[in-house]
Amino acid sequence: MAEIKTIGVLTSGGDAPGMNPAIRAVVRSALYYGFRVMGIKKGYEGLLKGDIEEMSLRSVGDIIHRGGTMLQTARSKEFNTEEGVKKAMAMANVFGIDALVVIGGDGSYRGARDLANMGLKIIGLPGTIDNDISCSEYTIGFDTALNTVQDAIDKIRDTAYSHERCSVLEVMGRHAGYIAINVGISGGAEAVLLPEEELNINRDIIKPIIEGRNRGKKHYLVIIAEGVGGALEIAQQIEEQTGIKSRATILGHIQRGGSPTAYDRVMASKMGHYAVELLKDGKYNRIVAVTNGKLADYEVNEALDMKKSIDPKMLEISKILAL
Ligand code: F6P
Repeated sequence: MAEIKTIGVLTSGGDAPGMNPAIRAVVRSALYYGFRVMGIKKGYEGLLKGDIEEMSLRSVGDIIHRGGTMLQTARSKEFNTEEGVKKAMAMANVFGIDALVVIGGDGSYRGARDLANMGLKIIGLPGTIDNDISCSEYTIGFDTALNTVQDAIDKIRDTAYSHERCSVLEVMGRHAGYIAINVGISGGAEAVLLPEEELNINRDIIKPIIEGRNRGKKHYLVIIAEGVGGALEIAQQIEEQTGIKSRATILGHIQRGGSPTAYDRVMASKMGHYAVELLKDGKYNRIVAVTNGKLADYEVNEALDMKKSIDPKMLEISKILAL
């Protein structure tokens, strides 16, 4: 096996709070073990263009508390072609990059696997607010996003209470409902609509709201996952069917920004360090994950074939506690 001398690092897909502490951990751990480190800007787009620069211990100073990613990120169309992958591989060779740490989601790992098939040694780190990476219980940025949404819910609650209204809040998550179900529980929602569940507005929203009103509730919160969508229409339907004034809020990209929580910083630091340790120990083409609360790693194809789903107990809890 050829020895690894130079490790490249990039962030890809949607940014997530905690990507900066992860970059910092990769760079500083790699330098500690004697590797050379190259920072690749704007994900695979930067790899294609050679937008790459050498990183030092100081390049990652003063970033641990910042949201976003200092390396910036992109969703590259060109890289998703066979030609694009060949071009990216050639550029990795130009810069002497023999191993690449990719911080991003499943889509980013598919790109990394294509590079691995051409001989680059890759490690994936789970970075997305959606927590929708199958091989891992946790993804970098998820905790910060939950806390950002929670803060918004608490504010919305204040005004919903004052006006005796129903608040309908649409949260991110792409095709997954992990953010929605968690903030549904932490925010005490009457109803949570998830893309993973079959939707029945009368059963899932109207009925619990009316039952709540009959028990004396004065305001209501409905969480809608982005994968279900339609917050404005649903708020209108609630108002028409119950007579309760309803307002919709689509939180949008606020959920992606902000200073990472302590939990995200610690996890990102541990995962970034773990990625470099794998390479140091001659292990590569693996995705770093959390399994049963502990750091683990899976071969990239195995990781991409894995499936995960929302724990039905979470749904049950959210319904019981909304009573
Ligand atoms: O994957 C993170 C995420 O914020 C999703 O929740 C959302 O569906 C998507 O990215 C939005 O992407 P963009 O910022 O490209 O509009």
